[in-house]
Amino acid sequence: MRREPPKELGWGSRFGLVMAMAGNAVGLGNFLRFPGQAVPYGGAFMIPYFIALILIGIPLAWIEWSIGRRGGAFKHGTTPGMFYRLWKHPVSKYLGIFGILLPAMVGIYYIYIESWALGYAWQMATGMLRGKHAYEEMKLAFGSYVGTTNANLISFSSISYTFFLIAFAMNIFVLSRGISKGIEIVAKYCMPILIVLGIILTVRVLTLPPRGEDQTVSHGLAQIWRLTLNDLKTLTRPHVWISATGQIFFTLSVGLGMVHTYASYLKKKHDLTLNGLTACMTNEFVEVILGGSIVIPAAVVFFGVEKTREIVATDGTFAIGFYALPLIFEQIPYGEIFGVMWFILLFLAGLTSSMAMFTPLLVFLEDELQIDRRVGVLLVSFFAFVFMQPVILFNHHKVLDELDYWMGTFGLVLFVAIETVIFSWIFGVDKGWKELHQGAELRVPRIYYYIMKYVTPVFSVGLVLWYCYDGLLEKISMKYVAPEDVPYLWLARIMILSVTLFLIWGVWYAWQTHPKFFEDEENENINQV
Ligand code: PHE
Repeated sequence: MRREPPKELGWGSRFGLVMAMAGNAVGLGNFLRFPGQAVPYGGAFMIPYFIALILIGIPLAWIEWSIGRRGGAFKHGTTPGMFYRLWKHPVSKYLGIFGILLPAMVGIYYIYIESWALGYAWQMATGMLRGKHAYEEMKLAFGSYVGTTNANLISFSSISYTFFLIAFAMNIFVLSRGISKGIEIVAKYCMPILIVLGIILTVRVLTLPPRGEDQTVSHGLAQIWRLTLNDLKTLTRPHVWISATGQIFFTLSVGLGMVHTYASYLKKKHDLTLNGLTACMTNEFVEVILGGSIVIPAAVVFFGVEKTREIVATDGTFAIGFYALPLIFEQIPYGEIFGVMWFILLFLAGLTSSMAMFTPLLVFLEDELQIDRRVGVLLVSFFAFVFMQPVILFNHHKVLDELDYWMGTFGLVLFVAIETVIFSWIFGVDKGWKELHQGAELRVPRIYYYIMKYVTPVFSVGLVLWYCYDGLLEKISMKYVAPEDVPYLWLARIMILSVTLFLIWGVWYAWQTHPKFFEDEENENINQV
C-alpha cells in the first residue's frame, strides 16, 4: 500500500495554496501568448475570451480542483488513480496517463524557454545587448543566443546552455523540496514580486510619450480593446472562438493534470470554490491588465501600428518580447533597469508554472509505483535532462514546435474533453456538485450546475472535433514540413511515445501489484480530517 505521505507534503497555508495555483496559471502565456492571440482579431477577441472564461474556463478549474481533492482523499495524486475513482472502468486509469504525460512533455521545452528569459535578464544587466538599433539586429542577436543562426548539425550556444542549466537546476531543486517547503515557498515570494514588477512595467509603458501620430499608448491599447462594427463581423468566424477558448485553457493551465495534483493535497474540509475562483481571477488580472498593457502598447509607440501587427503576424509575440522590447529598453532612460525587470518577470512567471510540470510524474512514481521520493527526483531529473537535449540542440529543426502542438495544444484540448465527460457525464454532475461544495465558502450559482452538465463537456468535445477537422491530418502527415526537419519531428514523436509506453506500463504495474488498494473504498475517509 502507498506510504503515508510525509506531513510537510500538504499545503501550509491558504495564501500559499492560492499563490501556488495562481503561479501555476500565470506563465509566459500571460505576457507573450495572450497579446499575440488577441491582436490579429482586433477588439473582437475579448468578447469570446470572456465568454470562454465564464462558461468554460472557471467551471473547468472547479472540475479539476474537485477531481484532484477527491483523488487525494483516496491517496491518489495523479489522474490515473483519480479517474479510476470517478469511473471504475479498466480504461479510465489509462486515460489518466495524459495528466502525467502532457505536463512533463510541456515542461521539457517550457523550462528551456523560461531559461531564455533568465539569460536575457543577464544580458540586459551586463549591457550585452547595447548598441543594437534595429529590430533585425535584435532578431539576429536572439538567433545567436539560442544558437540557431549558425546551426549545422546542432544548435548550440554556450550562453544559452549555461542559463538552461541554471534554470533546470532551480526547477529540480524546488521539486526536491516538495510541496510546502518548495513549491509553496517559491510561489509565496515570487508571485507578489511578479505582480509588483508587472505593475511597474505597466506604468512605465503607459506613460511613454507619443512618438508619432499613430505611435501612442492609446493606439497600442486600442489593438486589443477597441471594438468596431467591422470587428463584430469577425465574431462570425469560428477561428476567433477557437483561439479565445484555446487561450483560456492555456492560461488557466487546465487540461494538463497539474491543477489536479496540486489540489490532491487539499483536505475535504478545504474550500474549492472560492480558492479556485481567486486563483483564476489572479491569473486574469495578470493576463488581461498587465499582460495586455506591456508588449503591444510598447511596440506600437516605438514601431507604429502597422509594423507591430506585421511583427505579430510574422514572428509572433515572442518576437516582441525578446527582440522588440530589449530594443525599446535600450532607448528609454534607465531602460536597462526596466529591461532586467521585464525578463525577471518573465522568468518568475515561467518558473512558478514549470515547477508544477514535473510534479505529477514525480507524484505518480511515489504514489502508484512506491518509489522513494529522493530516488523519484533523481529519475525525473535524469529523464527531463536527457529529453531536453533534442529540444535544445535540434531547436532549428522545430522539435520544440512539434512537442508544443501535440502536448501543449492538441493534447490539452483532448484531455479537457476526456475529463469533463468523465466528471460531468460518467461520474455525474449531481455527485460532482456535492463534491465541489464540500467545505465550500462560496456557493456557486445554480446555473453552473447546468453549465457543467451541458456547456462545458459539449463545447470541449466540439473543440476536439474541430481540431480533428482543422489541420490534424496535415499535422500527422507532416504535409507542410520541410524535408530536412522530418526526422527530427519523428524524434519528437518517439519521445512522446516512449513516455506514453512507460506510463502505460506504470499504470498496469501499479494495478497489478496492489490491486486491492484500488478497490478499497475505506480509503475515502483517510484525508478528511
Ligand atoms: N498557464 C501557464 C502559461 O500561461 C502554463 C502553461 C504552459 C499552460 C504550457 C499550458 C501549457 O504559460
